[in-house]
Parts: sequence; structure tokens; C-alpha cells
Amino acid sequence: MPTADIGGPPSRRDQAWQLLTEWTKSESLRKHAMAVEVCVTACGEAEADRLELAGDERARLIELYSTTALLHDFDYERHPTREEHPFVGVRELERLGWPAEMRTAILGHAQYSGVPRVTHLDKTLFACDELAGFLTACALVKPTKAIADVEVAGVRKKMKDKAFARGVNREDVIQGVAELGVDLDAHIGFCLAAMKKRASELGL
Ligand SMILES: [Fe+2]
Repeated sequence: MPTADIGGPPSRRDQAWQLLTEWTKSESLRKHAMAVEVCVTACGEAEADRLELAGDERARLIELYSTTALLHDFDYERHPTREEHPFVGVRELERLGWPAEMRTAILGHAQYSGVPRVTHLDKTLFACDELAGFLTACALVKPTKAIADVEVAGVRKKMKDKAFARGVNREDVIQGVAELGVDLDAHIGFCLAAMKKRASELGL
């Protein structure tokens, strides 16, 4: 979802989108990046409210959340192994001058990296990554394939169904929510609401 060209230098979000699409040709991986972005950005907005940030400070925080989420798996298509993902991508992000807070959060979202999740951004990315994928899967099995038709209770039921969306690690979702210090139903509801608001961009 590139933003309209209104002249001037490209935004950081546009730069992140360009980097993502340069490295990632898979439509489903791009959609995953967008779904995680939608959830993480909504959490960033709530955090900016909590911190009572305004103006540039608020915009910078939200941009950091949005770009971190967009880029968290950008190297995965080229470097899917545990030896390389997300380490190759993080080195490239450093070379390109993306901030340390972003790189630490991206390292932290891979449990096996050993990098602890300390900041709100670190914890948010981890708490939204698998969940965004799971919510997308819940939408795609609806006859309408619409996220609008997905409800929290149905998501909780599907989380117990081991045969459904096997690729999504439920333990990571539960651990992520616990680390973030929020209630599981509340976090699912919050991410669902964020995805519903931007359903057309997500093709859901
Ligand atoms: Fe991811």
C-alpha cells in the first residue's frame, strides 16, 4: 500500500515499503508484513496516547512502529534459514541507516536469536507477529473471506483447534501477550479492530 505521490522526499514508510518489495516478491509475505504493520501501528498509536506524545514526537514513534513491522521479515524470502533470518536483514538495515531500536526489535522477534525483548516495541512486534497471521487465517476460512466476520470468541476457539493454521505457534501468541502485559482477549480484540479498520488495504 504505497502512499500517494505528493512530491517531496519519500517518507520513511515509503522507503520501508520499497525495501520490503525489493526483497519480497511473494504476495502472501507482503500481506503478512502489512497485517503485522496494521496491528503494531495501532499499538504504537495507543502507546503514543499513553505517553501523551504530540506533533513530531508522536509521528516519529508511530513511524518507527510501522516501519519495524513492515520490515521484520523482509529478508525471509531470500534467507529463510535460522542461520540467516533475521540476521542478514538486520545487517542490511544497519548498512542502510535504519535505527537500532528497529533492529533490536526485529532480532527479538526471532525467539532463537537470544536477543531479549525489552522495549514496548520489542514486545509489541512479538505479540502481533504470529497473531496477525492467525487472524488472517481466521478471515480466509470465512465464506466471505472478510476480517469483518471474525470475532474474538471464534479466534479463541480456533486457537484450540490444533489442525487449524498449524504454522502459527499458539505458545508464541500467549507468551507475547503475557510479555506485553495485556489480556489475551483484549489484545485479540484490539488487533482485530485495527485490521477491520484497514481491511481493504489488507485485501480482507
Ligand atoms: Fe512475521
